[in-house]
Order: sequence, then structure tokens, then C-alpha cells
Amino acid sequence: KKVVLAYSGGLDTSAIVPWLKDNYNCEVIAFVANVGQGDEELAGVEQKAINSGASSCYIVDLREELVKEVIYPTLKTGAVYEGQYLLGTSMARPVIARAQVKLALELGADALCHGCTGKGNDQVRFEGAFAALAPQLTVIAPWREWLFNSRQSLLNYLAEKNVPTTASATKIYSRDANLWHISHEGGELEDPWCEPSEQVWMWTKSPEQAPDKAAYVELSFDKGELVSINNQAIAPVAAIELLNELGSEHGVGRIDIVENRLVGMKSRGCYETPGGTILMAALKGLEALVYDRSSLKYREEVGLEFAQLVYDGRWFTPLKDALLAAATSLAEQLTGDVVIKLYKGNVTVAKRRSLNSLYSEAFATFEGDEVYNQKDAAGFIRLYSLSSRIRALHQQQKG
Ligand code: ARG
Ligand code: SIN
Repeated sequence: KKVVLAYSGGLDTSAIVPWLKDNYNCEVIAFVANVGQGDEELAGVEQKAINSGASSCYIVDLREELVKEVIYPTLKTGAVYEGQYLLGTSMARPVIARAQVKLALELGADALCHGCTGKGNDQVRFEGAFAALAPQLTVIAPWREWLFNSRQSLLNYLAEKNVPTTASATKIYSRDANLWHISHEGGELEDPWCEPSEQVWMWTKSPEQAPDKAAYVELSFDKGELVSINNQAIAPVAAIELLNELGSEHGVGRIDIVENRLVGMKSRGCYETPGGTILMAALKGLEALVYDRSSLKYREEVGLEFAQLVYDGRWFTPLKDALLAAATSLAEQLTGDVVIKLYKGNVTVAKRRSLNSLYSEAFATFEGDEVYNQKDAAGFIRLYSLSSRIRALHQQQKG
């Protein structure tokens, strides 16, 4: 029997390799997704996997498909979960799961395995993708089966199996990083009456430490897709890396939230999404210029639905295609430039322009104008408030 494991090189997935061999009597193939978690995490990961007892290790670079196929489309929908979360972990899962399934099918494997706990969202996202893409494969979720309940017990098990590890018994935070964001959970964050210490944050400067001088960056969009930064054409992965650098320097993109997990519990997490925060602000700045009132409202509804869909692990569904089709159609208008100002954690739209702009100085001006007849407003308001007028008249008759 062959099992393809989504392997990270961390303590949990390192213990899963020997555990699978013990409990399922199978060959374990390590699958490592490069989603932009950084060289530090990827360094030596193949050797680690082999040391744990994997028969082979495949590292696949998924950064470009993550951005092009999931992040950029999701941005067009304006998806933000519970008002703040830019879905960094949620968006990476379907891309990782799809590549894992592809490898499993190529190798003729019998099962897929992941290291998510039985208490979180990630298990649902992985297995939701597995179900949609390869329902015939068995799914193994060790965290829902084994009896280990602490880092120390995992370390003891690795020692027993003679697997070398540099992991330590105390690791304060549970983190998940990719090109788009890094998440931090656990440790003191489990108490919502505890402000995160500075050691929680890994990417961004604190707003207090950020430069006193603001920075400006110009983003240009074509049909809702970022095409250039400061008038230089830039590819998707490089664009996010550049915006991450800029945002991090200026303390942009930190959030500290309590969120509702799909599995019912609330959890507290701190997330850093510097580049994403800039991109989202720029797109919304452009939307304000080109979407009429009902288009904007509809885009907001689509964004709400889409955020939940992505969060809930429903990427591979017809609903995703339908919502995306709506957002993509609206985004045909989203062409233009936005200048963003970064200052001590704040992101503001300083300038915006678009050939599709519905903003008309001629109409909006407080000075005299030739185009807007103020007398038109009287009739509009009489009809617009007609039901209120009739209700009030009834009330007066009833006395
Ligand atoms: N709560 C966030 C989400 O559900 C972040 C999850 C982080 N995952 C992790 N394996 N550390 O998307
Ligand atoms: C986990 O429990 O595996 C991570 C957190 C989550 O999936 O929500």
C-alpha cells in the first residue's frame, strides 16, 4: 500500500511518517508544497522526510498557480472573512490538495494523508478537495486517530523510532505561512484578554517602529488584475513579494481576530497579510470609482458568499465557478491606477483614476454646474418617499 502525505517538515508530519508505517503497514511518500512559505522552512525538507522514513519526497512549486488561479480570482470577488481575514491559509489549501491528489494518482497510491487536527478548518478543506478530485482514494487523518496529545509525546515517539529531529518540546505558536500571509495561533493568544506580544509577529514591523515618512506605491489594474507596480509590468508572484516587502516595512496588514471556525468553535488568531492588504485596498479604491451603486452592492454580496465558500473548503464546486463568473464579469470595468499611501500601519488611497470612472466632477461639484438640474430631485424624492407619505396620511386619518 502507498500513502501520499502532505508533509511540511514540522514535528507533526515528521511523526506521521513512522506512525503510518506502523499502523497502516504502508509505503509513505512525502509531498511538499512550495506555496511561498520561505526558504527557511523548505531547507533540508527532503532529507528530513527521508530521515523520518519516507520512501521518497516530492517538492512541487505551486506559487504561481496559487496566485493566478486562487488569490487573484478571489480578490476580484472582494472576499474577506468575517470582515477582516484575507483567507491566506484557506486559499492555499485547495492548491496544495490538488497537487497532492495529482501526485497520488500518478504514483498509483491508495491513500492521502494530512497533518491537520480534528478541531480545525484545514481538515475540512483538504478532505473537501480530496472528495471532489479523487473520491476513490482513502483519507487518513492521524490527528483524529492517534493518542499523542503533546509535543513531548511526539518527540518521545520519534526518539523511539530513531528519527532525528531538531524540533523542541516547547514551541509557542502554531504558524502557517505562504506567499500571501502568515498566521499565528496558540500560546498566549489563546486568551483573548491578552494582547499579542511583539514576538508573535514575524513579517511586519510594528506600526510604532515603522518609518516616520510615508511611502507611496502605484498599482495598475486591467480587468481587476494587477498588471504593474510603479509603472513597471510585474508577474503575479513577484508582485506579491514586492508588496509584502513594502507593506512589512510600514507595519501594514496585521490583524488580531476572534473568528468562527466551520467546526463550531471560536479561535483567536493573528495574521499578517502586508501585500494582500495593499492590493485589497487598491482594488476597493478602484471599485469605488467604476462600480455603480447596485453593482457595488452585488459585488459585496458575492464577496461575502465567496469568503465563506473559500473558508469552508468548497473550492471545487459549481458554486465557486458561478460566483467567480459574476465577479469576473463585473471586474471587466476594473481597469485603472491607484496610488496607495503607506504610513505606520495604515493603507489609504491617495489617488485613483480610470477610463471607466463614473465619477464626474461636472456632476458632483459644489460650484455652479450646467449638467445637473437640482429641480429634478424634488420629483424623485416625492416618488421615492411615496409609501412613507401614504402611511403617514393613514395614521393621521386614524387619529
Ligand atoms: N484560522 C485560519 C483559517 O482557518 C488559519 C489557520 C491556520 N492553519 C494552520 N494549520 N496553522 O484559515
Ligand atoms: C488545525 O487544527 O489543523 C489548524 C487550524 C485549523 O485548521 O483551523
